Amino acid sequence: GQQQSAVLSALAIAQDESGWITPSIIDDVAHYLDMPPVAVYEVASFYTMFNNKPVGKFKIGVCTNLPCALRDGAKAGEYLKDRLGIGYGETTPDGVFTLVETECLGACADAPVCLVNNKRMESFMDNARLDALIAELRAKAEGQ
Ligand code: FES
Repeated sequence: GQQQSAVLSALAIAQDESGWITPSIIDDVAHYLDMPPVAVYEVASFYTMFNNKPVGKFKIGVCTNLPCALRDGAKAGEYLKDRLGIGYGETTPDGVFTLVETECLGACADAPVCLVNNKRMESFMDNARLDALIAELRAKAEGQ
């Protein structure tokens, strides 16, 4: 309902500023919308776009839902794990990359698909394109 979308908007704005949904953000949103904190927490933990712990500068989501899994989605995920040296839900020690699995991104025909920082879609991610994406993001991280 309306309250749900107010929570979603508030959390999205807060995450853009803080990078993840901290416990104090949960409390602030709950207070602001006059809801119990646990209800806000439930929303934050249900949606994969919200980070419930600190994440790297670039969060790479790879869709491993069944339609994608059948079309190399899982393979792309394994390749990313291997290249980044981390598992799903983990962040590289240098704080640059976090790797997560996503639910269907509505682009199954373009599998394997990745989503960078919840916003930028990348399609047909074979190993060469995954390498290029990692290199591009790493260069960006180093350039700052
Ligand atoms: Fe991966 Fe739909 S199952 S985008």
